[in-house]
Formats: sequence, structure tokens, C-alpha cells
Amino acid sequence: MSGQNENIKVMIVDDIDRTRTDIKRLLYFEEGLEVVGEAANGEEAVQQVDELLPDIILMDVNMPVMDGITATEYITRTHPEISIVIISIQGEHEYLKKAMAAGAREYMVKPVSSEEIASTLRQVYSLEKRRQKKPGEEAVTETEGAGQVKQNLITVFSGKGGVGKSVLASNFAVSLAKQEKEVVLVDLDLQFGDISLMLNLSNIKPIDDLVQEPDGINESTLSNYLMRHLSGLHVLSAPLTPQDSERVTEEHLSKIIPLLQERFDHVIIDTPSTFQEMTLCALDHADMILLPMLTDLSTIKNTRTTLHVLEALGHLDKSRVILNMDGPSYGVELEDIETSLGTKIFHRIPREDKNVTVSINKGDPVTMAQQSTELTHSIQRLVEKIINPGEEKKSPAHKSRQKNRAG
Ligand SMILES: Nc1ncnc2c1ncn2[C@@H]1O[C@H](COP(=O)(O)OP(=O)(O)OP(=O)(O)O)[C@@H](O)[C@H]1O
Ligand SMILES: [Mg+2]
Repeated sequence: MSGQNENIKVMIVDDIDRTRTDIKRLLYFEEGLEVVGEAANGEEAVQQVDELLPDIILMDVNMPVMDGITATEYITRTHPEISIVIISIQGEHEYLKKAMAAGAREYMVKPVSSEEIASTLRQVYSLEKRRQKKPGEEAVTETEGAGQVKQNLITVFSGKGGVGKSVLASNFAVSLAKQEKEVVLVDLDLQFGDISLMLNLSNIKPIDDLVQEPDGINESTLSNYLMRHLSGLHVLSAPLTPQDSERVTEEHLSKIIPLLQERFDHVIIDTPSTFQEMTLCALDHADMILLPMLTDLSTIKNTRTTLHVLEALGHLDKSRVILNMDGPSYGVELEDIETSLGTKIFHRIPREDKNVTVSINKGDPVTMAQQSTELTHSIQRLVEKIINPGEEKKSPAHKSRQKNRAG
């Protein structure tokens, strides 16, 4: 049924007639989205799902007869190919955890705009398609073992904002560049990228101008957009305003990345905190994915979800969790985090509030200006671990998760 047309088939499950009608109306004008059915509670949804076979179910939480979480649990077990997006009202945040644990792919809070619903549905659908495609296609490159893989492209990602992706990406890249490697840092946080600020670059030539070059994207046009930092690092900057980000597509990125890989010893990509098309592309191309995280429960939960998604995409073997802002435990021990994530922490970076804040404000990365700090040493050790992979014979994430499952 799925293959008969290109529309994304959506089922709406909500006990309030009016809400279902509103959502249908919102989606009516959205191209490529088709409402194929509706249900007034979880049980009806479970009964109808076999026949309707939607791609995505928009599921309310609180409903009579069977609630949305129970229905989600059931449907994700019987139909893992169907993605469930939970929509709840304000104040039901405690359900987020349960919904994700039950297998929901996304969580939205009412009221939602038509753009928000439509873009979430498209994103979830495209992610699911990749999930279904990946295992066979990508298994080859990743399981070779870290020792043999050239760590040419490193993507820094986290499903949570503000965990230090950009601080890590910029300091890691500077540290590598200072070792006289040819390194480029790509700011793929297209809407809110702050790499050029963190590196105090001026006269920025952003990526959205590159993709509009009349001569197209090639070695020569690309080189005009690579800004040079004092450390020797090259930088491809994010657009100057969020609205300019729309000009850059996955197709552009798929041209840019191989050109950069060809020219540089190392390509480091900083990303936003969502699994959007561009991020997925950067994750697909990555030889290694660095996942910075913090020790609060919300970030731990988010990192666990991220690892599940990366596993589904076939990227777990190349993922490495980095505990950023390491310091006093505040009640959550390292072992607890590792148990909860089902993976080992690959590296820890200390919390140095003053040094990091000063470095960002001055546009002078810690690894550039503050050589003797523990943070600089920590980043240098991380660089060593990654570019000298003999020390990490097997993927820690992979090994540990298997062990956890076995035992
Ligand atoms: N090791 C650290 N010690 C102290 N503060 C840190 C450290 N790493 C990051 N920070 C602080 O955390 C904040 C967020 O860092 P950063 O901007 O790198 O996160 P991000 O994950 O890139 O955020 P976003 O999702 O908004 O892009 C910064 O203001 C920075 O000062
Ligand atoms: Mg950032």
C-alpha cells in the first residue's frame, strides 16, 4: 500500500472530534500528506491499523478505553515500520519519557501549527525511510573496526541543545589544525551557527552563498568560501541569518562533503540538535560521530534516544559518547550513566566555566589561547585517541551495548 503513491499516509488518533477535524484541516493543504483514517481512542487505533497501514500515526495521550501510550507500545511492537508522533497538551511533559520509552518517534505539544505538524511528519517519515534502508546498505564501512577506518570525517552531534557541540567541534578542530594537519570545520548549524563567532572570523563568506554560485559547487568555487583561522584551520561558515539556511539542501551538502574529504586530512562538522535532512547526511558521511552530553537526567534520556536512533540508522559502531562539563557528580554516577545509555563514555571533558566563557567572548578557543588548562589537555587527549586509533581496538559503544543485552 505504501508504495502506491508518494503521499505520506497519516492516521489521527484523538478522542475529541474537533481536534481530529482541526488537524485534518491543517493537513489538507499540505502537499504530500494524506490523512487515511482516524480513531477516537487507542483501542480503535489498534483495531484499524492493520487495514489502514499508515506511515505515521498522530497520537493523543489521554483518551478513554485505551490511552495513547499503551496504544503506542502495542503498535510499535506489531508494526515497527509505522512511526508514532505523540501530540499532547501543555503540562503533560511527564508523558514525554513514557512516550519515547513506548517507542514514539516524536513528541509535539498543542497547539501546533500546520507547518510544525507538516515538517515534523516529513522529518519523521524521511528518518523512518532511512532506517528501513540502512542496515544492508551501510554495514560494510562501519564494522571494519576503528583501527582501519581513516577518521577523515567527524560529525559532532547531540539530540540536546547547549551540551557543548560547538565548543567541542571548534576546539577539537583547532587542536588538530595545530598539529599541522589540514583541517576544515563545517558549521552545519545552518540557522543558529556560532562557529565563526567562537573563532572570531570576520568578512564571512557563508555556505548559502556558495550553493548559489553561478559556476556551481566545485573545488575552485568551494575554496573561495573557506575562511582561514589563525590556527591554520579552514572554516565553512553557516548562513548569517536563519532564513538563508533554506537555500542549502542535502543535495548541495552531498557535493560539498566529498570535495572537502578529498582536499583535507580531517573534516569536522558541527550540527544542530535535530535529526533533520542535513544532519542525517552529515551522520551518514561520518567516519566517527562524537556525541557530547551532560550529566542531567534530561540529557541522559535524550542521549539514550539519540543512540537508539543512531543504532537504527546503522551508525552505532562509529558513535562515541563524550561526557562534557565533567565535575562533581550531583547524584548521578558515571556507572549509572553508562548503564542507562548501554554504552561506555568514550572521553570526559572537564567543566571550566570561566575559561570557556572567556574563550567564546573573545573568539579565541581554549585550545588556542589557554594551553595549560585541563580542558585543552583533555581535548588534545581526545584528538590522540581518535587519530591514533590503535588504542581503541573495538568500538566501545557497540561492545558495551551487546554486553548489556547479553547480560
Ligand atoms: N567544558 C565546558 N565547561 C564549561 N562550559 C562549557 C563547556 N562546554 C560548553 N560550555 C558552555 O555551554 C554552552 C553551550 O555550548 P555550545 O554552544 O558549544 O553547545 P551546543 O551544543 O553547540 O549548543 P547549540 O545546541 O545551541 O548549538 C556555552 O555557553 C559554553 O559556555
Ligand atoms: Mg552549537
